[in-house]
Amino acid sequence: MIKIAPSILSADFVNLERDIQRVSTADWLHVDVMDGCFVPNITIGVPVVQSIRKCTDMFLDVHLMIDKPVRYVEAFAQAGADLLSIHLEADHPTRIAEALKRMGEFGVKKAVALRPITAANAILPYLEELDMVLVMTVEPGFGGQAFMEHQLDTIRQVRTLIDRYHPACRLEVDGGISPKTAGAVIAAGADTLVAGSAVYGAADPAAAIAALREG
Ligand code: DX5
Ligand code: ZN
Repeated sequence: MIKIAPSILSADFVNLERDIQRVSTADWLHVDVMDGCFVPNITIGVPVVQSIRKCTDMFLDVHLMIDKPVRYVEAFAQAGADLLSIHLEADHPTRIAEALKRMGEFGVKKAVALRPITAANAILPYLEELDMVLVMTVEPGFGGQAFMEHQLDTIRQVRTLIDRYHPACRLEVDGGISPKTAGAVIAAGADTLVAGSAVYGAADPAAAIAALREG
């Protein structure tokens, strides 16, 4: 089943509770954490995730665009994240493995994320223990960018690896997803779609969520 995860990066942060309620027909809530180091932008951190946890029961899909994410697994888990995505480019492989181990210890679901430059087979050392793989379809850092068409190949390659080695693993895509691009990413094998501007920029977010689900 296709899951839709609106990204609150495109919400009005002054009215965050209202904007979370506006997407309550979605499956997950996508929370973009940026550190100004791994990506040029700075967004939100642990205290905001804590506050979001208090105002919604939605599944919190927390995308960590931060260097050396192993340092913050415990804090985001305690803050109420249900799933953490860490970038494979953000640390050495042994520390990525350590971060995934900590996620298991703190009871959060485990995902690895790939920048557009990263090859699909980089997931192989971790795949069997993952709950999700996140394929970026823009360069991480900002909402509202154009979908990178060539990432359809990476999505297809990740789908092949998941089907072969760990079919229960979800495949999320993030960046430039709209009703125009949703069909192509679903056809390529994605089952979980993040969308920021396509949902929050729509006059009717619930209708946008429904349109994305249709592909
Ligand atoms: C970008 C973030 C995305 C962003 C997507 O680095 O990871 O989650 O919010 O925004 P749209 O859907 O507008 O491309
Ligand atoms: Zn994201």
